[in-house]
Amino acid sequence: MISPQTIEQITNRIDIIDVVSEFVKLKKRGANYLELCPFHNEKTPSFTVSPSKEIYKCFGCGKSGNTITFLMEHEKYSYAEALKWLAQRYNIEIQETEVSDETRIVQQAAESLHAVNNFAQKFFTEQLLHTEEGQSNALTYLEERGYNITTIEKFQLGYNPQIKNVFATAAIKQQFNHDILLKSGLVVNRNDELIDNYRGRIIFPIHNTTGKIIGFGARIIGSADKAPKYINTPENEIYIKSKILYGAYFARHAIDKSNECLLVEGYTDVISLHQAGIENVVASGGTSLTADQLRIIKKYTNNLTIIYDGDAAGIKAAMRGLDMALEEGLNVKLVLIPDKEDPDSYVKKVGTSSFKKFIDENKKDFILFQLEILLKEAGNDITKKSDAVNQIAESLSRINKAEDFTRRQAYTHECAAILKIDEDGLINLVNKYISERANKDDKQQHDKIETNNTETVKDNLFFHPDEAQEKNVLRVLLEYGVNKWNNKQTIAEHIFEELQQFRFDDTDMEKLFETYRKQYEEGLNPSAKTLLYHEDEKIRSLVVNVTLFPFELSQRWDEVLENIQVLNVDNSMRDVTMSLNYFKLRKIKKMFEQNQHDLQQSKNWNEMLQLMEIHKHLKGIEMEITQQLGTVIMK
Ligand code: GTP
Ligand code: MN
Repeated sequence: MISPQTIEQITNRIDIIDVVSEFVKLKKRGANYLELCPFHNEKTPSFTVSPSKEIYKCFGCGKSGNTITFLMEHEKYSYAEALKWLAQRYNIEIQETEVSDETRIVQQAAESLHAVNNFAQKFFTEQLLHTEEGQSNALTYLEERGYNITTIEKFQLGYNPQIKNVFATAAIKQQFNHDILLKSGLVVNRNDELIDNYRGRIIFPIHNTTGKIIGFGARIIGSADKAPKYINTPENEIYIKSKILYGAYFARHAIDKSNECLLVEGYTDVISLHQAGIENVVASGGTSLTADQLRIIKKYTNNLTIIYDGDAAGIKAAMRGLDMALEEGLNVKLVLIPDKEDPDSYVKKVGTSSFKKFIDENKKDFILFQLEILLKEAGNDITKKSDAVNQIAESLSRINKAEDFTRRQAYTHECAAILKIDEDGLINLVNKYISERANKDDKQQHDKIETNNTETVKDNLFFHPDEAQEKNVLRVLLEYGVNKWNNKQTIAEHIFEELQQFRFDDTDMEKLFETYRKQYEEGLNPSAKTLLYHEDEKIRSLVVNVTLFPFELSQRWDEVLENIQVLNVDNSMRDVTMSLNYFKLRKIKKMFEQNQHDLQQSKNWNEMLQLMEIHKHLKGIEMEITQQLGTVIMK
């Protein structure tokens, strides 16, 4: 257990911006920081971090908390792990209230695995650099391949000796638990004895984005004839293959800066490119990209350049995974390394600047690249060519976010020209794929709701009540309605005017709103006090609910208001403005979704154009409101 003194020391030192920036690219907005939320998918940033309050909050998904909960949510750390991470970051020595073998055993598997991996990395590096066998067997091999000592140390490479259990013995001596050792994949059980799994292999530690070692790749020295070239950590609590991007920890700042992520296949490709000074590079491990990997990349950039080895037989398979990248709105480019080289060998052969030049000059847009490959393959075969058309149409249909519409249009145009087919025909085909998928999605959505999957229902704006925003408007109406807005209007009149085009989703809230309006128009002075005595029980309890529990809602304004310069506005007025704006913004978001949905369903060109117009119109209103929210509110 970490001592209370240590915890206090840690919490005193916490800088939330510093910590969150480690995982999310933050942009300063006034006193706060704003970015796309790391906890849900969104297109406009609503994740806000307040350094003065030391909290974060996402106005989209509602996740909020402090630095420690952020680490727990985002990195899936336990409370203790989060504290330890912070302690390490701020060089605070952890005093534990008790250190015993028992504690070690009861610690979570994840924590233990991190500990084992850490120990193993140090052990293997020591073996590589400071033992006779390591130097002559492994270090020479790495040096022959051209890796210098700085690179070897940076990537914490190591060596597992050939004797059957050097590592296992050392680890057991350190009292690492057998089960954990087995789970880590570093050892295997042979006839009830733990022996080293990576005997005689070079060790490549694999880090998560915070730099913690989550597993290893172990390469045979020289060529692999009988045994597999690489052995990897088996899936366990911390090594989750679908979420791993090798090198992401070392590449993250460079990706950020260059606004481009290069993706290669192998560990050695990443390492060689780093050594050559090209640092914005990560490896997928040779399999097709997963959604989680894309998410990691998207945190840093929207530009993904995938570098394939020249002979890659797997290109076609790998490309299938890329439709997902298109859907995510990533800008995907592809390059083929020539002459049976891979990035590792090619950069060594031609040098840094030629390598960079080659990539820049040869990267091709994903869709056109795919088309080229398919056509080459099809040759004069009519059936194959028609397959190619279908596959391209399918890919095009994935570019289906409303704002990517023009991008799809341009592609469709270009592809039709290359394929020498009628553009309208291609458009029809693309639309067919879109609607097919929309129908399928609808059905899935429907099935999910049938089985009462609240997760999906919650995630979908369609089904999400605008409770907070509606409540807030009612709150300001009840609180300030009879006050003056300007020389001509009361606040109530202003609200009625502003909300002419909008409706409440919640029928009770709508009822309260209408009741207020009716009383107001009858010349009464409705307020929370008077409505508390309304005959309808529903209205009475809603009034209590709205006026007595507004804090959770109005605190939001504080956070946002911190960075807004307010001129000549008293509190009630800005409260009214904010409430109205958020209400409208919310409703507009919903209309967006509806519109996008219609767009997906639409099979008719004119209708689509119309929907696009609506989209533009909504976007305009949205921008106006966001600008108002983000800048100056003047009366
Ligand atoms: P070098 O031959 O040392 O340059 O490695 P490489 O990275 O170029 O290997 P290669 O291009 O053959 O494979 C790319 C990636 O696929 C590797 O970095 C590994 O992540 C993975 N890989 C390759 N071979 C194996 C294998 O035998 N088993 C497993 N599990 N993964 C492999
Ligand atoms: Mn290679």
